[in-house]
Amino acid sequence: MYIFKAAVVGAGAMGAEIAQVISWSGLPVVLKDVDQAMLDRGMERIRGIYQRRVDRGRMTRDEMEQKMALITPTLTYDGFGDVDLVVEAVPEKMDLKKRVFAELDRATPSTAILASNTSALSITEMAAATSRPQRVVGLHFFYPAAVMKLVEVIAGRETSEETLDTAVEFVESLRKLPVRVKECPGFLVNRILLAAMMQVIHFQHETGAPYEEVDAVVKEKAGAPMGPFTLADTLGLDVVLDVCKTLETLGPRFAAPAHFENMIKEGKLGVKSGQGFYTYTK
Ligand SMILES: NC(=O)c1ccc[n+]([C@@H]2O[C@H](COP(=O)([O-])OP(=O)(O)OC[C@H]3O[C@@H](n4cnc5c(N)ncnc54)[C@H](O)[C@@H]3O)[C@@H](O)[C@H]2O)c1
Repeated sequence: MYIFKAAVVGAGAMGAEIAQVISWSGLPVVLKDVDQAMLDRGMERIRGIYQRRVDRGRMTRDEMEQKMALITPTLTYDGFGDVDLVVEAVPEKMDLKKRVFAELDRATPSTAILASNTSALSITEMAAATSRPQRVVGLHFFYPAAVMKLVEVIAGRETSEETLDTAVEFVESLRKLPVRVKECPGFLVNRILLAAMMQVIHFQHETGAPYEEVDAVVKEKAGAPMGPFTLADTLGLDVVLDVCKTLETLGPRFAAPAHFENMIKEGKLGVKSGQGFYTYTK
């Protein structure tokens, strides 16, 4: 199945960048949110990504405007009537995701593929909110989606081979690297990443080692692009906790320490709130 037009639901950190990636590949994409301010911020984020490419001489201003013109921001499902594939990127709450999937089931052609960017929730459960579970799949992009190459393609219990093949080809058409994984808590990457991140957070708390030092050691010795405290701040501590809660069923290695949960209660969410493990100024 060829994808001629796509849509993204949720214009936050992930949704906006996924829409940017789709437009970069030359496809028209509708970007929907429920909040005008978030939609505006999402469009600004996309323009910022393109503007940096213009500044570095990687594209012209005209090319940037052509790519921007491929993206239609909206607060309604107008424009979803002829899409071939939708990526849902609303917050990591199952009830909300199921509601959005039920809405998408009504708003899109019955042939359209409905994908979720969930970090850890069940694709099968979301698919059950639709009349087309064979066309529901996980497409898990990583932050920042404009840069990160890997995309997990997750099969729910009823996802058809045809849907998986189309999803893999779609990811490749975005110049990304698809990895097919079976549905399981945390899929592949988060299962490894979050167990390791929680161990480091426990270790730092027990030893009082400075965040900078731990980050520097992990970067240098493990070859990671950034240390775990910078990563948690970048992802959002609340997002990390949501995923850990889902993974806790696998064992205590995913349990977040009490001080981590307290930071979230105090509004220390990382870069987005200006304070996490580190302090951020505009
Ligand atoms: N942040 C990350 O690093 C990261 C990485 C990979 C995957 N994810 C996953 O991507 C999804 C989105 O995460 P995020 O960090 O972009 O969240 P976010 O909070 O930055 O953005 C979510 C957006 O969804 C919008 N929204 C809420 N309800 C909606 C609805 N009913 N319809 C349309 N839009 C709605 C919000 O207004 C907001 O703009 C989550 O499932 C998350 O687990 C996040």
